[in-house]
Amino acid sequence: MQTIPIRATRPYEVKLGKGLLDSLGTELARIGKGKVMIVTDENVAPLYLARAYRSLKEAGFTVYTSAVPAGEGSKSMKYYVNLLELLANKELTRSDTLIALGGGVVGDLTGFVAASYLRGISYVQVPTTLLAMVDSSVGGKTAINLQGGKNLVGAFHQPSLVLCDTELLNSLPPEEFRAGCGEVIKTAILFDKELFAHLREKRLNFDQEYVIGCCIRRKGAVVCDDEFDRGQRQLLNLGHTVGHAIEFLSDYGIPHGYAVAAGCCILARSLGRQADRIIECFSAFGLPTTSFFSPKALAAGALSDKKRKGDHLTLVVPVEVGHCELRQIPLTELESIIEAGISHE
Ligand SMILES: NC(=O)c1ccc[n+]([C@@H]2O[C@H](COP(=O)([O-])OP(=O)(O)OC[C@H]3O[C@@H](n4cnc5c(N)ncnc54)[C@H](O)[C@@H]3O)[C@@H](O)[C@H]2O)c1
Ligand SMILES: [Zn+2]
Repeated sequence: MQTIPIRATRPYEVKLGKGLLDSLGTELARIGKGKVMIVTDENVAPLYLARAYRSLKEAGFTVYTSAVPAGEGSKSMKYYVNLLELLANKELTRSDTLIALGGGVVGDLTGFVAASYLRGISYVQVPTTLLAMVDSSVGGKTAINLQGGKNLVGAFHQPSLVLCDTELLNSLPPEEFRAGCGEVIKTAILFDKELFAHLREKRLNFDQEYVIGCCIRRKGAVVCDDEFDRGQRQLLNLGHTVGHAIEFLSDYGIPHGYAVAAGCCILARSLGRQADRIIECFSAFGLPTTSFFSPKALAAGALSDKKRKGDHLTLVVPVEVGHCELRQIPLTELESIIEAGISHE
């Protein structure tokens, strides 16, 4: 088991290992007491809710549960308000705790409920997807969607504890696992040549504890240096500018991690020095390395993203494995940069 400290304004720990779900109760008992509400989704509930419930009960907690439908649709005002009303109905107080048992959808929703109920109560992340383990459960960004776009309402609210049980990945559908690998490879390209070499060699059979641990440490370090997303945290957007456009143009039919992989490869081809190595790695994981949308549509899609500033945009350029740069480019150049990075093979 690994314990990874996250030194945010309010520090917390990530516990990472096999079979940790059964120690949820004893781990939480070290930092909290009273009532807990486990929030999960309808796919995860039949798999893991009973174990989480039992563990918390045995540690002396009063436990309530709530399962939202699986999928992005639950990151909405409707389920946000439902959960708040449920907490009020069960009379949870500021000394009680929410548990997010699920992927990024459950984590983001539960985190935002925790950030706002009674002006903020504590919550624990128990991520059950690879993406949630390496990305969304660490860093304290919480959000729900509006009709007008994704993640438009949210708050920065760090969890009190993150419990990553790698055994939970055994039930994850292969496509979801690969989507998480998109973010894992992104992390390696940003910060870690050794991790990249391990992924290249082992492909989908990588050492989960080692790889997830590396990603959490890297994300934790960046996030603590820039907790409120004003500078270096933007590096984590590698592949995301073009990736968001791909997701948007596909009506969210192309999963996020797949779109990030393609977005990263497109910029590597047009602006980087090691495009071949980068493309080969994503490709070995069965992830896309280009897009069939036109450069014009992709540029327009990217510009509708909330990260543009005036007539410039910050791109994260994958210069080499282990070295990426933030580069300001004029909006008018984006289409030709994308054009140069699309492979027509
Ligand atoms: N807060 C952040 O910093 C941050 C970062 C990245 C992504 N996100 C958000 O995360 C969300 C995506 O997260 P996700 O990819 O985890 O999606 P998700 O939560 O929708 O989970 C994917 C699917 O896998 C199922 N599932 C989850 N765990 C399972 C398991 N162990 N076994 C079987 N099935 C399981 C879910 O029910 C769902 O159908 C998006 O809303 C995105 O905006 C947030
Ligand atoms: Zn992402």
